[in-house]
Amino acid sequence: MTNKTDFSINKKLKTLSLIAIIFTTLSLASCANQQSTTLYEQLGGMEKLELIANNFVNEIAFNEEIYSYFEETNIERFTEKLVEQLCVMSNGPCTYTGDSMAQVHAGMQITENHFNLTVDLFVAAMDKAEVPHRLQNQLLKEMAKTRDEMLYK
Ligand code: HEM
Repeated sequence: MTNKTDFSINKKLKTLSLIAIIFTTLSLASCANQQSTTLYEQLGGMEKLELIANNFVNEIAFNEEIYSYFEETNIERFTEKLVEQLCVMSNGPCTYTGDSMAQVHAGMQITENHFNLTVDLFVAAMDKAEVPHRLQNQLLKEMAKTRDEMLYK
C-alpha cells in the first residue's frame, strides 16, 4: 500500500537520482575534455611528423635560396633530428638528441627574410601533409620561439 506521502518521496528520490545522473555525466564529459589530447596526438603522431619533415626536405630541395644552406648537410640526420624536435614541440613522447638551435645555426648568418622563407616552406610541407590550419598555427607558434636563437648568428 502506498500513500500520498510515499508517492511524493518516491518522486523526489527519482528527481534526485536523475539530477545525480546528469551531474555525473556532465563531470565525466568535462573530465574527458580536460585530459585533452596533446598537439602530437592531434597532428597524427610520428607518422604525420615524418611526412611533414620529408615534405619539408623536398620543399627545401626545390628552393635554390634555402637549399644553398643545406648543400653540405646530412639530410638523413637533419630529418631525424627535425622529427624529434617537432615531436617535443608538440608534447609528444620523444627526446631531442640533436644540437641546440643556437649551435647548429651558428655561423649561417640567417636573415629574417630567409627565416620567413623557410617557415613558408614548412607551411607548404604541412599543407601537403593535410595538416589543418588550426594545428599548423599551434606548431608554428612553438617554432617561432626558436627564431631569436638563430637569426644573424
Ligand atoms: C624555423 C625554425 C627552424 C627549426 C625548428 C630548425 C631546426 C633544425 C634542426 C632540428 C636541425 C638539425 C640539428 C642537428 O643536426 O643536430 C637543423 C639543422 C639545420 N638547419 Fe635549421 N631550423 C630552423 C630554421 C632554419 C633556417 C631558417 C635555416 C636556413 C635558412 C636553417 C638551416 C639549417 C641547416 C643548413 C641545418 C643543417 C646543419 C648541418 O648541416 O649540420 N634552419 N635545423
